[in-house]
Amino acid sequence: MAKQRSRYVCRECGHESLAWSGQCPGCSEWNTLEEVVVTATTAAAAGRSPRRRAAAAPRSVPLRDVEAPAEERLATGIGELDRVLGGGLVPGSLVLLGGSPGIGKSTITAMALGNLAAAGRTVLYVTGEESAAQVRMRAERLGDSALAVPALAETDLGAVVAAIEAERPAVCVVDSVQTLHSGELSSAPGSVAQVREAANGLMEVGKRNGTALILVGHVTKEGAVAGPRVLEHLVDCVLLFEGERERSYRTLRALKNRFGATSELGVFEMREAGLVEVEDPSARFVGEATAAAGSVVLCAMEGTRPLLVEVQALVAPTDVVPPRRVATGIDRNRLAMILAVLSRHGGVAVGNADVFVNVAGGVRIDEPGADLPVALAIASAARGAAVKEATAAFGEIGLTGRLRAATQAERRLEECAKFGLRQVVAPAGTPSGKLSMLEAETLGRAIRAGLDVDGSEGR
Ligand SMILES: Nc1ncnc2c1ncn2[C@@H]1O[C@H](COP(=O)(O)OP(=O)(O)OP(=O)(O)O)[C@@H](O)[C@H]1O
Ligand SMILES: [Mg+2]
Repeated sequence: MAKQRSRYVCRECGHESLAWSGQCPGCSEWNTLEEVVVTATTAAAAGRSPRRRAAAAPRSVPLRDVEAPAEERLATGIGELDRVLGGGLVPGSLVLLGGSPGIGKSTITAMALGNLAAAGRTVLYVTGEESAAQVRMRAERLGDSALAVPALAETDLGAVVAAIEAERPAVCVVDSVQTLHSGELSSAPGSVAQVREAANGLMEVGKRNGTALILVGHVTKEGAVAGPRVLEHLVDCVLLFEGERERSYRTLRALKNRFGATSELGVFEMREAGLVEVEDPSARFVGEATAAAGSVVLCAMEGTRPLLVEVQALVAPTDVVPPRRVATGIDRNRLAMILAVLSRHGGVAVGNADVFVNVAGGVRIDEPGADLPVALAIASAARGAAVKEATAAFGEIGLTGRLRAATQAERRLEECAKFGLRQVVAPAGTPSGKLSMLEAETLGRAIRAGLDVDGSEGR
């Protein structure tokens, strides 16, 4: 007879324990353990019984004898999405697409399926969140090809798996994985156990039929894809769709990709007719840049592509203790480090001031080359002196106040020259291009070189 046991699985990190506790032993989060009922027969059926394992010992095969069909990637017809995926969808792969509410996850997946259908691929759109009628309303905005996509409004995992088995689509979107539930589990949809069961079930049917699956997932307030992190381990590719809802720019990046680089960035703009690719984001962002104090053009490398964006800083005196440090588009800890180096080695003390840093356009830059421009923007704001005209910056800041060369300097310089910038503040030793270089060994010197004043603080 099937014996029932309870396990407690952490919603955040997937840690399993036999007893409930308020704090997860795995990730130290509070109140994240959820009960999961496991029947002894399911464990045995899953091959966990030692006797069964011994009886059917599988043979290993040398890799050169493994059959690997030359796989053709499936182009979604959205250039930026294909690039982030590493050249299109891999047949049979499992992609997790996360993003905050209303950012455009359903829109981009519906557009991709429409393009694939128009290219003669079989596709399926499973909607658990919206009714088929609501999906149709969106598709009407997106055009004819999106209207040709077959949709299934279903939240039962078994039914979705059966539909994929029957239709064997080349690409299937499940919007969202958190709405699916399996009748075999007692927990509510969206719980760790349900999300994991759904992902496992879908992965299995996807691999069996060669169906590439895109699972849409919500993200938590902290920006992680909601549900257990186990899901991120399970899938081949994790894409994150970001941006500020009130701004029209959206960025898409891969956090994990088994079939390509993770540093690629896709930039989109949300319009009435759907998401439009911004093929030349540097032109947009530089065009929108202001020449006031506190503004610096940053030249970042996003994967293989250089990107020019404006960094803005505001330094305002305050009586609040501790003063506020608000970072939008860059990491908060990185900002704390830059502020510490600025006060210790750059002669810019902001201990009694609130500091706000914002990367314009809603883009997030996760690259050490952004250190110097951020520091320059703060120094410029603190001194009330604008950065020299038509000047960009890039470079990493070390804890000693020395600057370190950033990667792919030539590509960055080419991009700066292309968009009419005339000079660049960069670490000493950066190969020079067509532009005039304001090279500096230390942060203090870079500030002196970059700002439009005579300063004596640099060391
Ligand atoms: N007519 C329109 N013109 C321009 N933009 C629109 C229009 N209708 C909707 N949008 C944009 O589309 C967004 C919603 O897109 P979508 O439904 O794809 O988001 P989602 O990420 O799937 O959201 P959810 O998490 O709720 O499923 C809205 O936030 C809005 O910015
Ligand atoms: Mg949606």
